[in-house]
Amino acid sequence: MQEQTETLFETQFEEEVHTGLTDYPKHLSSKYFYDAKGDKLFQDIMNMPEYYLTNAEFDIFSTQTEKITQLFSKESSSFNLIELGAGDGIKTKILLQNLIDNKVDFNYLPIDISQNVLDQLSNSLEKEIPEVQVEPQQGTYFEALEKIAALTDTKKIILFLGSNIGNLLHLQAIEFLTQVQKLMREGDLFFVGFDQKKNPQTILDAYNDQTGITAAFNKNILARINSELGGNFDLDKFLHWEVYDPETGTAKSYLVSKEQQAVTVEKLDLKTDFAPWETIHTEISQKYDDRTVEWLAEKSGLQIETQFTDSKKQYKNYVFKKV
Ligand code: AVI
Repeated sequence: MQEQTETLFETQFEEEVHTGLTDYPKHLSSKYFYDAKGDKLFQDIMNMPEYYLTNAEFDIFSTQTEKITQLFSKESSSFNLIELGAGDGIKTKILLQNLIDNKVDFNYLPIDISQNVLDQLSNSLEKEIPEVQVEPQQGTYFEALEKIAALTDTKKIILFLGSNIGNLLHLQAIEFLTQVQKLMREGDLFFVGFDQKKNPQTILDAYNDQTGITAAFNKNILARINSELGGNFDLDKFLHWEVYDPETGTAKSYLVSKEQQAVTVEKLDLKTDFAPWETIHTEISQKYDDRTVEWLAEKSGLQIETQFTDSKKQYKNYVFKKV
């Protein structure tokens, strides 16, 4: 007789929320911050003066574009420039314009899970830099990257910007880098943003702004549980709390329950209690130094070819090749 396995949850979101709210200590994944409202809040974060990461990477792209262009076009007349998680492409556009100005032969392949993001990016590129050959790839990073790698031998330059890698624990980062490494060939380059260790106060300020935008971004995960899963979280009864450990370089975000309370999530048939000051861990934003990045690279079969840093030395883009 065939055994039937019962699936309790319709989506990964449902399953992870159930697990996270029934574990002790409680946790939820930062990947669920991002719906339309979360995307907008993250845009607002990137425009905050305290959130230095965006300006630092912008500084690298604007002041060192020529060097980056030279590095990318070295040893090969044409390449595919593949961007993992395209976003609004503000930094990438500086590079794209420079590649066009230098008459470099390349195609730009932004990968994103959201067709909407890709459409917006393609439309803005069509208006701003119409010479760029854009081939948007809708899907998860690895599905799309695998497809590209299988279709063509053309040299690949893969971009992963914004210190998005910092939202992964080290072991997850190694898994991620290794998956990309396996799809790389000799001559391909992997260009990755890593936010650097710095004055701990600068980091705390970036993740705990006075205007409360980061708090709203953090709490958006509770808002999503309310609207999508029938939760009854009272957002005012939770506090956004940020800590940073200068030794490990890990910034951690929490939501802290201000009082004893019970929350129900109808769709999950779940009732969960919060003791006063009980926490939900929601995000890590890892900060790095050279030794840590060298270690991650070594564990992932990658080698650092070169690196670029901003004028304030707050942030670095490392360029990896396959060992
Ligand atoms: C997307 N990611 C790299 C951001 C970060 O810095 O960890 C998300 C973020 N969280 C709070 N502020 C910004």
